[in-house]
Amino acid sequence: MLARIVGTGMALPELVVSNDDLAKIMDTSDEWISERTGVRTRHLAVNEGTSSLAIEAAKKALDNAGVDAHELDLIIAATVTPDRLLPFLSGDIQAGLDAMQAAAFDMVVGCSGYLYAISVANAYVQSGMYKTILIVGAETLSRIMNWEDRSSCILFGDGAGATVIKADEVGVIRSVLGTDGKAGPALGCEARPLQNPYVHNEWDYPYVRMAGQEVYKFAVRTVPKCINEVLDAEGISADEIRYYVIHQANLRMIEAIAKRLGQPMDKFPTCIEETGNVSAASIPMVLDKINRTGKLKRGDKLVFAGFGAGLTWGASVLTW
Ligand code: COA
Repeated sequence: MLARIVGTGMALPELVVSNDDLAKIMDTSDEWISERTGVRTRHLAVNEGTSSLAIEAAKKALDNAGVDAHELDLIIAATVTPDRLLPFLSGDIQAGLDAMQAAAFDMVVGCSGYLYAISVANAYVQSGMYKTILIVGAETLSRIMNWEDRSSCILFGDGAGATVIKADEVGVIRSVLGTDGKAGPALGCEARPLQNPYVHNEWDYPYVRMAGQEVYKFAVRTVPKCINEVLDAEGISADEIRYYVIHQANLRMIEAIAKRLGQPMDKFPTCIEETGNVSAASIPMVLDKINRTGKLKRGDKLVFAGFGAGLTWGASVLTW
């Protein structure tokens, strides 16, 4: 049996912040941001948290799937911005859904979190251990941005995306995953400093640091390569893929990836224009957008692919 997606959902904070809104509080412009990144607005959490967004997206995905929360065997939450370190996000989701029979754990793989989570879900389904799994990617990245660093904060937003998975005859066909820990410092955020009776450290920069151009080049080089790897291994041609659901980091990067694959942009659905980069939530959010607008037909072949902190990357080919 394979992991098949049977429902999708997403949730965004109420506050919408446009590029012009940002230009009022920092030295930037709508022209600079939209030309370089494609981002026009992002949603930022004010009254919401990672948990409330995750639970809202999860409820919508269960409703879309026609699956009762009591049927869930496992909940996987992918996040780098939980509301608390402990207890963790997936426990909040489990409690919020009253899915008390489900096991729950978090995965911390940055923007590749959803890709890693779906490959783990597929492995559980293939092993026969679990049949019905909820995956939620949820972030409030605004909490770890330096709002005085215009080169990074303009890119990111808050939100959540969720998918419900069931064991079926068709589903995830193959995944590839990769990590380059040596290149990790290109995109990072320090944890709380060591504090104990024997050491005292100041938390000097509790925000995301990013070498933008390095990450850009890495993504545009690595993503087409790993997509070709999954497709070649299964003898599936790039033309057979109905949609490429790519991590929403920068519209220009998605265009460069499409070009390298020799595929038209209308096969690359996006939400980055409205949401910015929402890390682990971005792939399930785009998927929800095309699912709810009736663009997906059962049997369509899809590719999911992305990259992010770690540095990490991954791709999956699946049957919808
Ligand atoms: N508004 C106006 N000007 C800005 C700006 C902003 N928000 N941010 C940076 N600039 C300025 C810089 O100060 C620099 O000015 P200078 O030439 O006078 O020094 C100039 O714009 C160019 O900066 P640079 O950093 O070279 O821009 P870039 O073309 O590399 O674009 C990114 C920056 C971040 C948009 C781009 O590198 C990128 O998207 N990288 C990938 C990042 C990413 O996706 N990370 C997440 C991965 S999961």
